[in-house]
Amino acid sequence: MKPFLFKINALVKNLLILFQPHVVFSFLIQPFAFFSNFLSLTQWIAKQPTKGVYKDAFSLLRNYNHRIDLYNYVIEKENLSNTEIIYIEMGVCNGNSFAWWMQNNHNSASRFHGFDTFEGLPEQWGYFFKNGDMIAEAPKLEDARGHFYKGLFQDTLVPFLNNGNVSKGKRKIIHLDADLFSSTLFSLSMLYPYLEKGDIVFFDEFNVPNHEYLAFKIFTESFYVKMELLGAVNNYYQAAFKVK
Ligand SMILES: C[S@@+](CC[C@H](N)C(=O)[O-])C[C@H]1O[C@@H](n2cnc3c(N)ncnc32)[C@H](O)[C@@H]1O
Repeated sequence: MKPFLFKINALVKNLLILFQPHVVFSFLIQPFAFFSNFLSLTQWIAKQPTKGVYKDAFSLLRNYNHRIDLYNYVIEKENLSNTEIIYIEMGVCNGNSFAWWMQNNHNSASRFHGFDTFEGLPEQWGYFFKNGDMIAEAPKLEDARGHFYKGLFQDTLVPFLNNGNVSKGKRKIIHLDADLFSSTLFSLSMLYPYLEKGDIVFFDEFNVPNHEYLAFKIFTESFYVKMELLGAVNNYYQAAFKVK
């Protein structure tokens, strides 16, 4: 029976390839992908534990102060304010979150690395943001522990890693705030060899189905990385994980 079904499966697939259904149905690619990823996201959320995880109350609108509450929760829970950390932020823009982390970790041996084109998004992000949006001048750094790497992650991250800036055994805080699927998946994949148990990964736009959520899903499933949810705010718009 199985060999017969294999043959039918191959026959139908080959016929479909021959008929090029995209000629008529390509308009369905985006909505179907969005719908599929959205269902996957809500299913994933439903499976998350409710106890021992930081969450704000449900609200219809986003409140950006809640992401600071999440940072404070993680800093306190993981005892990070005086610990030596390597903080890596992918997507700095005008430096608000970068500055917050520098101000709230007081260890003089900590290092803070921020990556951005500083020329805005390299691609369109959803319907509302186009290529070049979020352009910002690299903020002034008055704290010698911080450094910015200007350019596409795809050009700057690998040389940075090859230069030995991220040594194993030190607590890493990875802040993924590039919004885009491509940038997030690229960053996670390149940082993968350096990730260790206990490292913390923040997502700033986690609940966007075709972007950060999809990058998280593909990364964790393809690299067999397990991450434990520490907290989420703004209905999972911002989420923090600990590598298991
Ligand atoms: C939402 S902003 C970052 C906001 C910032 N972390 C904050 O909250 O203060 C996203 C940034 O990611 C940057 N970005 C996205 N993809 C990138 C890539 N592949 N290479 C370099 N920068 C990228 C954009 O230039 C943009 O400035």
